[in-house]
Amino acid sequence: MNIILIGPPGAGKGTQAGILVEERGMVQLSTGDMLREAKTSGTEMGNKVADVMARGELVTDEIVIGLIREKLEAGGTGFIFDGFPRTLPQADALEQLLADMGQKLDAVVELKVEDEILVERVVNRATEAQAAGKPVRADDNADAMKTRLLAYYKQTSPLIGYYYAKGLHDYVDGMADIADVKAEIAAALDD
Ligand code: AP5
Ligand code: MG
Repeated sequence: MNIILIGPPGAGKGTQAGILVEERGMVQLSTGDMLREAKTSGTEMGNKVADVMARGELVTDEIVIGLIREKLEAGGTGFIFDGFPRTLPQADALEQLLADMGQKLDAVVELKVEDEILVERVVNRATEAQAAGKPVRADDNADAMKTRLLAYYKQTSPLIGYYYAKGLHDYVDGMADIADVKAEIAAALDD
């Protein structure tokens, strides 16, 4: 089973993907994590996208599709696409890449969370990381969060209607406790 977790910044995509990896042995493909890794390891691409990410804008389709292509070409199944696709061209590319592997998407689960809560979550994450002397994500601040939300509503949320029309869309209440969100996702996947 291959699924997309879709939702605004801070909705809990990474948290829930981590649980699915633990409990179902699925494979998490987070383009955000891949881009941050590229930045940490000082690759040319990582340096190139660092400013764009810090502002909260989307990096180019070409770069993120390239990252996903590389992972899928290594083979496997049971993928959780976390934070990908974020644009229609990315959605088309994903469909083609999966088709080339003789696979398809089985579900697109949307995590719904109110905007004020999203801002609160990412600002809290930054404050807590700072207090513990851990690295703070460059885009976890109120300013970048505005841009991240704009990018989501302008470029990514149209995908929800697109996947609904394809009969793949389901949604869960992302404001519930992590365990309850997990249970709702399980119900959506197993129905
Ligand atoms: P990315 O890394 O994908 O970030 P994001 O989607 O903007 O947001 P987060 O990762 O912060 O949110 P999340 O939904 O994973 O929530 P999490 O589980 O962490 O992208 C970063 C940047 O990379 C983009 O802005 C763009 O520049 C670039 N990029 C990435 N992919 C791209 C693409 N495909 N195309 C173009 N550019 C791309 O949870 C958030 C917080 O809430 C945590 O502290 C968590 O503990 C807490 N939390 C989680 N669930 C709950 C709950 N149920 N109740 C209370 N708290 C909760
Ligand atoms: Mg994430």
